[in-house]
Amino acid sequence: MPARSLEVTINGQVQPVEDIPEELMMLDYLHEYRNLTGTRFGCGKGMCRACTVIVDKPDGSSEEVRTCITGAHYFNGKKIRTVEGHAQRDEEGHIETLSTVQQQFLEHFSFQCSYCAPGFVNAATVLVERLQRQPIARSQLENTISEALESHICRCTGYVRYFEAVRDAVLKTPGTTKEAS
Ligand code: FES
Ligand code: FES
Repeated sequence: MPARSLEVTINGQVQPVEDIPEELMMLDYLHEYRNLTGTRFGCGKGMCRACTVIVDKPDGSSEEVRTCITGAHYFNGKKIRTVEGHAQRDEEGHIETLSTVQQQFLEHFSFQCSYCAPGFVNAATVLVERLQRQPIARSQLENTISEALESHICRCTGYVRYFEAVRDAVLKTPGTTKEAS
């Protein structure tokens, strides 16, 4: 299989440039080359979004991308975040503080088997960041959360608890909502 060099930044760290097979999916690159196994292989067909990572764009916005159907080379030159990149860690890599989204998922007992959780963490994080840039009226929040999460599948059907956790994460993040004018 032909190979091509890949340069990508993951969770703030520039990765070693390596020759990667042309056809390699990003999910396999994360697992096999970077030992970042928090990104889940669910359906493998772009349906469940368990494999979602965040791409940070040069304009400061962020977006979700599915890694089971997106080749590693799509990410060449890009900055991404995986579920391993959300918590604050000490110099030895031990977790010191969870992100607001992660903390809310725990407090609401949102996940059961957790297979879908990394995708939900990333989706909710992208949503919170978007609302920080573009706050919405409080009255729009429920619909906005539903739209942001609706493509993510949880086989354990923990949707209500995920929804409630994301609502609290948004409300605990300053500047995300405003009173309707
Ligand atoms: S594993 Fe990628 S969308 Fe299901
Ligand atoms: S918690 Fe099991 S798939 Fe969502």
